Formats: sequence, structure tokens, C-alpha cells
Amino acid sequence: MMNTRSLLALLLSVLLLSCEQKKTATVEEKPVEEYRPAFHFTPPQNWTNDPNGLVFYDGEYHLFYQYNPYGMTWGHMSWGHAVSKDLLTWEHLPVALPEFLNDKGDSTMIFSGTTVVDNNTSGLCEGKDCLVAVYTAHIHKNGEGLKQYENLAYSNDKGRTWKQYDKNPVLDIGLKDFRDPKIFWHDATKKWVMVLVVPDKFKVQLYESTNLTQWKLLSEFGNTGDAAKIWECPDLYQLPVENEQGKKKWVLSLSGSHPAGPRFVGMQYFVGEFDGNKFIQDKNQPDTSYVEYGKDFYAGIVYNHLPAEDRTVMIGWANNWAYGNKIPTVGYRGAMSLPRELSLKKVGPVYKLIQKPIREAVALRDEEIKEAGQAAGKQLEIELDLAADTDAGIKVFKSGDEETSIGYNSKTKELFIDRTKSGKIDFHPDFSSIDRVPVDGKDGKVHLHIFLDSPIIEVFANEGEAVVTETAFAAANGFKIEPYGNTTNLKVWKLKSKSK
Ligand code: FRU
Repeated sequence: MMNTRSLLALLLSVLLLSCEQKKTATVEEKPVEEYRPAFHFTPPQNWTNDPNGLVFYDGEYHLFYQYNPYGMTWGHMSWGHAVSKDLLTWEHLPVALPEFLNDKGDSTMIFSGTTVVDNNTSGLCEGKDCLVAVYTAHIHKNGEGLKQYENLAYSNDKGRTWKQYDKNPVLDIGLKDFRDPKIFWHDATKKWVMVLVVPDKFKVQLYESTNLTQWKLLSEFGNTGDAAKIWECPDLYQLPVENEQGKKKWVLSLSGSHPAGPRFVGMQYFVGEFDGNKFIQDKNQPDTSYVEYGKDFYAGIVYNHLPAEDRTVMIGWANNWAYGNKIPTVGYRGAMSLPRELSLKKVGPVYKLIQKPIREAVALRDEEIKEAGQAAGKQLEIELDLAADTDAGIKVFKSGDEETSIGYNSKTKELFIDRTKSGKIDFHPDFSSIDRVPVDGKDGKVHLHIFLDSPIIEVFANEGEAVVTETAFAAANGFKIEPYGNTTNLKVWKLKSKSK
């Protein structure tokens, strides 16, 4: 017979055991429910959209980002802030630029903008240099935008604290929509150049300055490209041409409509020359070229002042305004793409944008999986070749009937990603989709380099000639991969977790 003491001890241990099991169950379920990627940047909590003010300074890559400190949908726009030493592991810092009331009592949100390292051309630096940010001040009342102009803020402690310039704004042409300044140092003419947009006129304006506080209009660019949706977040930079030794061309990229139509947002680019005054697209270039055919890459801009002059690194927002406020993530909403390295390649008479995962990404590799065909995981890197004359591909995030397919249609010569069976798709009618991008086979093959970081999928095809970024919210626990059709050279690596 059990005495009362042993009975009590038994009860207690049963109770403890059931608590313990509950705990384990929560720990296992949480990542599935949260849909938080492991090595893509996400804010610690709440909403984010565009990356802002990308700049390298004193050993740190800064990532500012459009941020709502108070909620899980767009609003109260401020600049969130994080720093990194390798573009993969991010340290979260306090909000850099919060929304505020200006002297006139106007509610001012901090919209997208840029950060530069100023060697005191502004006279605002306490030492030899400092960080200067120029952003769009969005003046609003009762939920209505009234006015947009460009403000300046500066930091003398590596971006940890910021002061608003006391003579703001630095550029105001009296428009309701006038935004997203990107500034860079134009070495050939020794001046600062700013590009920004008049969104509803589908127009990029270029300005110059010697001190970051006074700006003079240089020229305008427009009347071309895809104007089915307002233009936002322009950028202008020079890229090397991979297959023309020593050659560089200027690229103007911006955000607007999507190749699948103006229900969605996407990015386009123009290739030509910039002489310090005017950007002119080359005659041979098509009127419209898209950066991506995936649905989840928007508002991409490139880093300023990178240490190695040999590369240009872009980060975009891995989401789409069509359904962005509804994606079923828990605890945060919105993520940044993997940083990518940009260059150009001459294909026939046309310069094409080439995008590759940053070289630092190899450090994410953990072990290579021996039985690659049976691999499973939320964080995987995959390489494989698809035979271009048959229909072949790979299913990912697979379990039971759920899967996301990445494949090649040999008849239409298109790479596609199909997320119509990818798990949670009903949170918005515009989410479920099959997206397609034209890709030519090389020596009878299409090479795919894939990064999976649930819920983000990035597919780099044929050494960066096409990229597809998509989110897929797989609800189940399986996360298997399954090649189909004629595929060869499959390699799969488990990837380490970096950002949190
Ligand atoms: C692009 C954008 C920008 C604007 C910001 C506001 O996604 O609309 O034009 O500055 O987001 O959050």
C-alpha cells in the first residue's frame, strides 16, 4: 500500500512531467507558427517595410528600416535600426528616427531615405566625419498625407543617437508626393548627387549639392519604363560588366509595378550613362526591364561607402504591398531579402542585371547533407541542374499535399515558382500564385541556386541571370525537398541560424 507521502510525491511528479511536456510542445510549435526566418533580417517585433539608409561606416553595416514601433501593420513610420559585421548577423539597436511633431505642430512620419558618411561637407560633424541621413518627412492629418519634403538628421556617435537639422527641410518643392531620396558621392565631379521621385508623375529627379543641406535641380528622368503604378525608392549606381573587361555602366533602379500587373508591386531598372548631370538610358536597352519576377522583392536600394569598391550590395523588402499587411507571421511582419551582389552582363546587344547572393553567405553552411534527395529542413541551401529540354524542378517545404514547386517549363522556357499549394494561402486573395520568369538553358541546363529560410525562398538561376524571391507559409512540419524530372548535380547544405 502507498503511504500518503509517496502518493503526494507521485502526483507531484506526474504534474511536473505534464508541465514539462507542455513546455516542449510549445517550443516545437513556436517556429512554425511564427514563420520567423533564421538568417534573414526581421525586426524584433512589429511591422517593417523598406530598407533605408544602407551605409557602411567604421566596420559596421547599418540597416535602417521603415518601422512601426507600435503595431503589426503599416503606421507611425519611423526608422528602425540594426548593425552587422557580416550582413548576416544583426544586432538590434533602438529606433533611430521616431515620428515627431514639428515646430508648426505637424505630425511628421519618417519615410524612406538615405544615409551617407559625410567628411564634414555639411559642417555638422564634430570630428573628421559623421553620418548624415536625408529622409522624406511625411506630413499627415487624420490619416491623410498632406505634404512631403526632405529633411536631414545627423549622428556623431556612429548612428546611436540622432539630431534633426535645425534648418529643415533641405528640399521642398511644395508637393504632396515627393519622396525616397537616395544620395551618393559622385567622385568624378566631387559632389553629392540625390535621386528621388515624383511618384504620381512617374518621374525621377536628380539634384546636386556640395554640403548636403542646399540642393540644386540637375535633370529629370521619365516617360519610359513601366508606369502602370506610382514610382518609389529610386537608386543610381555604377556596375561592372562581367563579360567586358574593365567596363562599367550606370544603372537607375526603382520600385513600381510588377511584371504580373499593377495589382502587385515590383522593381525595374534602366542601364545607361550618367555624366554627373543627366542619366540617359542606352538606345539598345529595352524600355522596361524588371529586377525580379518573384512577388516578394521591393524597395531595394544599395549600400553607400562599401569598403571593397569592387562590389555593390542591394537589400530589398521581402514582401508585397498587395497582401503585405496580411501575411500570417506572428510577432513581427516583414523581412529583408538576403543581401545580393549586383553586376551587369552583356547578352546580345543588351546589358542585363546580374544578382548573386552575397559572398558571405557561404559562412551560413553547416554540414552538406549526404542523402541530398531526402533532405528536409527550414533552412537549406540547394544547388542543382535542370535539363532544359524536359520539365524538371524541385519541390520544397513539402509535407503531405503541401508543397512549393520551383521548376522549368521547357516549352515556354520559363522558370516558375508555384505557391498555390504552399500551406497558408487564404489570408489574402492575391497571395496564391504561379510566377514565371524567362530563362534560357546554358549547355542544355538551367542551374538553380536556392536559399530556403522559411518563410522566404530565393532562387538564383544561371549564376544570377534571373532571381525569384517569394514567401511561402508552409503550415506543416515536414519541410522535405523532392526533385522531379531530369535533374543532376544536386547538393544540399543545412544552414546555420544567424539573425534573430
Ligand atoms: C515604399 C514606400 C515609400 C515610402 C515608404 C513609406 O514601400 O511607399 O515610397 O517612403 O514606403 O513607408
